[in-house]
Parts: sequence; structure tokens; C-alpha cells
Amino acid sequence: MGTPMSTPMSTPMSAEISGQAGGVPPLIRLRGVSKRYGSGAAELLALKNIDLDIAAGEFVAIMGPSGSGKSTAMNILGCLDTPSAGQYLFKGAHVEALSRDQRARLRRRFLGFVFQGFNLLARTSAQENVELPLLYRGDSADVRRAAAARALEAVGLKGWEHHTPAELSGGQQQRVAIARAIVTEPAVVLADEPTGNLDTLRSHEIMGLLLALNRDHGITVLMVTHEPDMAAYARRMVRFVDGRVATDAVNLHPVTAAPAMSASESI
Ligand SMILES: Nc1ncnc2c1ncn2[C@@H]1O[C@H](COP(=O)(O)OP(=O)(O)O)[C@@H](O)[C@H]1O
Ligand SMILES: [Mg+2]
Repeated sequence: MGTPMSTPMSTPMSAEISGQAGGVPPLIRLRGVSKRYGSGAAELLALKNIDLDIAAGEFVAIMGPSGSGKSTAMNILGCLDTPSAGQYLFKGAHVEALSRDQRARLRRRFLGFVFQGFNLLARTSAQENVELPLLYRGDSADVRRAAAARALEAVGLKGWEHHTPAELSGGQQQRVAIARAIVTEPAVVLADEPTGNLDTLRSHEIMGLLLALNRDHGITVLMVTHEPDMAAYARRMVRFVDGRVATDAVNLHPVTAAPAMSASESI
């Protein structure tokens, strides 16, 4: 992959990035981030004063019970939503101060998303699904075709380009979604329960892919999971409880390879 972060972003972000004194800021920094849903009697604090730093190149598993704020945090980290209070710095730039358009640009340029339900367009080929982020970016048809073919090959789907989601297994659909997430060469891939709809074998296959993206391509991976076997691939585990970071620990012995599978099993 290339160097997605080598070119400065347009102002005001680049000004803030280059104006950062005292060393390089972490890729991601949350400071005192809270998120409130609703108001009055219906008010709910989904995140309570979160501090979190994530360095470039990390592979972080985010765990915690249902309703603990994991998806809310991922939506904020993914610039899909904004905090009610606190600061989110991405490469030193204040995301909470950006306009909706600036956030969308940051998202398109630096972030890739993988969801539990794959979120592919039906009746649309794998190739076209993967090309979509490049279409939004205004790339030419030739550039899109070549980049999507490369991304599909990287996830082991060479030869499946013209199949629609309905013609693919769940594991294959998630691999298409991963190809779509990496086709823009993002700095960060955010995956919210990426193996939640998959059986154990397919889940390990997806984890093997995320691991390869992190290790071989230097992509920072933030993954929500409730499965300890999948979190075991990450080198750091952050546990949310009731809208707070309850524990944040290094995984000293991460899984370093997905279990080997026969060719027939991997389809
Ligand atoms: N859009 C929303 N509007 C109102 N409440 C929400 C919304 N999204 C999440 N919540 C609430 O915020 C809390 C945290 O939710 P969420 O971040 O989805 O948790 P998790 O992903 O850990 O299961 C839950 O109580 C949930 O019901
Ligand atoms: Mg969730």
C-alpha cells in the first residue's frame, strides 16, 4: 500500500498538524469525551468523560457489555458522529471543531469501515461495491477498476469480482466489505463486531485478514468484539463498562496467525 498520510490535509487541519509543538501527537486522542442522547427524562449519557490515545499502527480490541458505549465511541472515532463534550484530535487536528464537510473529507481520506452486517449494495457486483468509495472521491473508471481488483485480490477474492452479495457466503461478503474499506488506502480501519454474523471458521479468516492489514500494511485497526477468541488477535484491549473505559491493557501474547484452513473450508 502507499503512504496515505504523507500529504497534508487542507486548512485548517494542516495548520494545526504542522503547528503542533512538542513532538508528534498520537494518531487518535480523546480527551474528556462525553456523548449524550436525548434530553430531559430521556437523557442518557452513553459516554462519560473518556480519555483514550491510540498510536499509528496499533491493533486495538474494544470490548464490554452490550450498551456500554462501544458503538457510540466507534461512531465518534469514525467521524460519523460528534461528542457532546470533550475533544477528539486526529493527527493533532480538532475533529470536534470541523464542519460536517470537513469531517466527511477526513473520513473519506483516512478511515475505512467494516460493519457486522457487511452493508454491501445488493444486486451490485463485488467489484462495483469496492469501487464505490473511489467513485465518491471522483477517481476515473480505469483507476477505480484497477484499485478495486487489487483490493479484492488482497482479501483473497480474485475471480469473484462479478458476483453479487447474494451469490457470496457471509465470509466472502465480509471480505468484500474489507476490500471496500481498504481500497482508499486508509490510515485506520474501524470494524464494529466484524465477525458478529459469522461462524467460528469464517471469523478467524476475517481476523487473519485484519491482522495482515495491520502487520503488513501498517493500518491501524480498531475493532469492537464481544468474542475473547477474536479480541485475542489484538495487541491491546480496551474494555468499556457503562460509558467509561474500565480497563486498558496490553495483550502480551496476541494470536499471530489465523488457524490454517483447507481451500474448501475457506469458501
Ligand atoms: N442514537 C441513539 N439514541 C439514543 N440512545 C442511543 C443511541 N445510540 C445508542 N444509544 C444508547 O447509548 C448506550 C450505548 O449504546 P452503544 O454505544 O450502541 O453500546 P454498545 O455498542 O456497547 O452495545 C445504550 O444505552 C444505547 O441504548
Ligand atoms: Mg454496538
